[in-house]
Amino acid sequence: MSLYQVTDGVAVITLDRPPLNTLGLPLRRHLDNALFAAQSDSQVNAIVLKGAGRGFSAGGDITEFDQPDNDQEPSPRALHDHIEASHKPVVAALHGMALGGGLELALACHARVAHCATQVGLPEVHLGLVPGAGGTQRLPRLTGPEKALNMILSGRTFRADTLAGSGLFDAVTTDDVEAQAITLAATLATAGTISRTGKRPCNMDNAQAFFAYTRSTLRLQPGASTAPLDCVDCVEAATLKSFHRGQEQESNTFRNLRNSPQFEGLRHVFLAERKALTPPGKAQQVKPLPLNTTAVIGGGTMGTGIAMAMANAGIPVVLVERDDTALARALTTIRDHYEGSAKRGKLSAEKAAANTALISGATDYSAVSDCDLIIEAVFEDIAVKCQVFERLDAIAKPEAILATNTSMLDVNRIAQFTRRPQSVVGLHFFSPAHIMKLLEIVQGDLTSAKVMATVLTLGKKIGKTSVVSGVCEGFIGNRMLQPYLMQAGMLLDEGALPQQIDSAMEKWGMAMGPFRMCDMAGNDLGGKIREQHLSNHPQLVYSRCFIEVEAMGRFGQKVGRGWYDYIPGQRAPVPSEEVNSAVIAESARLGLQRRFISDEEIVGRLSLALVNEGARILEEGIAQRASDIDVVYTAGYGFPTWRGGPMFQAQQRGLVDVLTTMSRFANGPTYQKADDFWSPAPLLSRLAASGESLFNVQAPEAV
Ligand code: NAI
Repeated sequence: MSLYQVTDGVAVITLDRPPLNTLGLPLRRHLDNALFAAQSDSQVNAIVLKGAGRGFSAGGDITEFDQPDNDQEPSPRALHDHIEASHKPVVAALHGMALGGGLELALACHARVAHCATQVGLPEVHLGLVPGAGGTQRLPRLTGPEKALNMILSGRTFRADTLAGSGLFDAVTTDDVEAQAITLAATLATAGTISRTGKRPCNMDNAQAFFAYTRSTLRLQPGASTAPLDCVDCVEAATLKSFHRGQEQESNTFRNLRNSPQFEGLRHVFLAERKALTPPGKAQQVKPLPLNTTAVIGGGTMGTGIAMAMANAGIPVVLVERDDTALARALTTIRDHYEGSAKRGKLSAEKAAANTALISGATDYSAVSDCDLIIEAVFEDIAVKCQVFERLDAIAKPEAILATNTSMLDVNRIAQFTRRPQSVVGLHFFSPAHIMKLLEIVQGDLTSAKVMATVLTLGKKIGKTSVVSGVCEGFIGNRMLQPYLMQAGMLLDEGALPQQIDSAMEKWGMAMGPFRMCDMAGNDLGGKIREQHLSNHPQLVYSRCFIEVEAMGRFGQKVGRGWYDYIPGQRAPVPSEEVNSAVIAESARLGLQRRFISDEEIVGRLSLALVNEGARILEEGIAQRASDIDVVYTAGYGFPTWRGGPMFQAQQRGLVDVLTTMSRFANGPTYQKADDFWSPAPLLSRLAASGESLFNVQAPEAV
């Protein structure tokens, strides 16, 4: 392949590394060589950089970060400095996306032309990093420090046209980006003017106050990555130091963060989320079905949320309820939500109205006969599900996908209520469904490859983090939650109080401890799940405290009382005397001498309860990979992303240590009935003995 094509004295260098033009070493070498050649080519007066395929570049190659720096030449920084120093003008032509290192490459050019729909952003902070190739030094020089810092700290992507007046682009166009970039490059060459970003000043009024204020707004969890603060420091350095000194600071900060355990965890989750999108088995080879029209059956808590998740992505939905009253209530909930969002400025009034209009209502199932996808979200009762799926089977078009949002029921059994079990799949959304990121896609024994490929595409379109799960009670997430809660209950019986357990887990990084989480989900709902679980596994031990809290009518936040008391208008839970007394009384009833339990023991027992069940789930092929389990817990259950997920943690500490600790718990002062709780998953024992990793376990071929 030639290094570049010359058009009217302009060399067009193409970034061509499918699928996303990641700027790993091979592409950087190609660019560097092409630049040298173009600079010494007398036919060339100016240079344009453009991307082939879907976009300019999605950024650096994070799998490369483990290699020593001196094997990486040219480094991104060296390449960017090379571009900036070019004596022939270099213009970036941006389309599709210019993210992370891709945007930093464009920042080093002397001018930028973007197609209006290009997605641009610096997402490094989400990986526990600062932009490390000049981003914190060049962006503030183009847009001003405030705008730059907001972009860097948010880690968000923005459409280029929303940044049209920011100084980032020289032109934003709806036309041919490459042609415009060539024209601009030729004009700059003729004018003989080259604007080097690193040479621009970076001034700001009241800079000191601005940076101090921004630091004060950052809420960093103890132990979490310091990257947000480091981003502030680097952008501040752009206002205080020379470009060169600022770059030095940025490079050093980047290197330190890259070697931190927090980055390891965040990178693991970043890669795991992408891996989880690989369709299972044959679904990789099939084309997804079109999804133009959808329906949701049941307009309660979940149904309204699911309908809004669809509408937010521009997908029309028909919402079906049992009768006019229930339908009116559901549609009012939706309208109120969008109106409220518009009032709070979270959504423009037009967008709120457009989303509301995408959701229509019906009480007659004939309204869904032509839908491509129908998602059931009615009561969690197998008889009701049976009725609904028989009706859907009778009315839906042959190629329609029939999905269930059940939390605990058997998707295979639900599929058998139809004559097309191959079209039935579980789509397990989390509450509130329009906000929570996680989507468990439950693959029934007979679910077809086409259906799997289609719903995985849907997950992406509606902005969810999807993970495929096989059929079992509670799928991946809720199944692991049961031993976690059982262990939390044992800790209560042995000597801890709810607030101590929650505080230990939250200090460790969980978004919420187990009891606060139960209060949020509803202790009546938790009770139903527990009863069902116990009916299938009567040997299991749950603390009676769970039953007592429910019996006291302490159903959680929604009634202002649960494991905690909730004062109206205040968010913070207040420890409850009544609950704490009941916990202490339960220990006495069991004849247990309450003892001091350290935070370390609480965290160890709860996190290993997750790991042991996760290993069983992996061994049974319910999860395709250990990293999928980590995605479920980080995206859906508030597990700290920077810790990488429960399975990553287990692998990091070593499986032999995991087993030793579990055996110590089994032999410790826990009560007798719970002893076999800690019998290790056979997979853990096997891997610990062979020294293999959880992350090399291959699930049996599916579909
Ligand atoms: P809900 O009780 O709030 O809503 C159920 C709705 O279905 C009601 O509005 C009811 O009128 C309607 N409905 C009942 N039978 C119907 C029929 N034959 N045709 C049309 N509509 C009918 O229940 P929720 O919480 O929304 O749960 C729905 C499903 O989602 C259940 O299977 C549940 O297990 C599952 N789920 C619930 C989660 C939660 O946090 N609430 C989380 C994930 C899944």
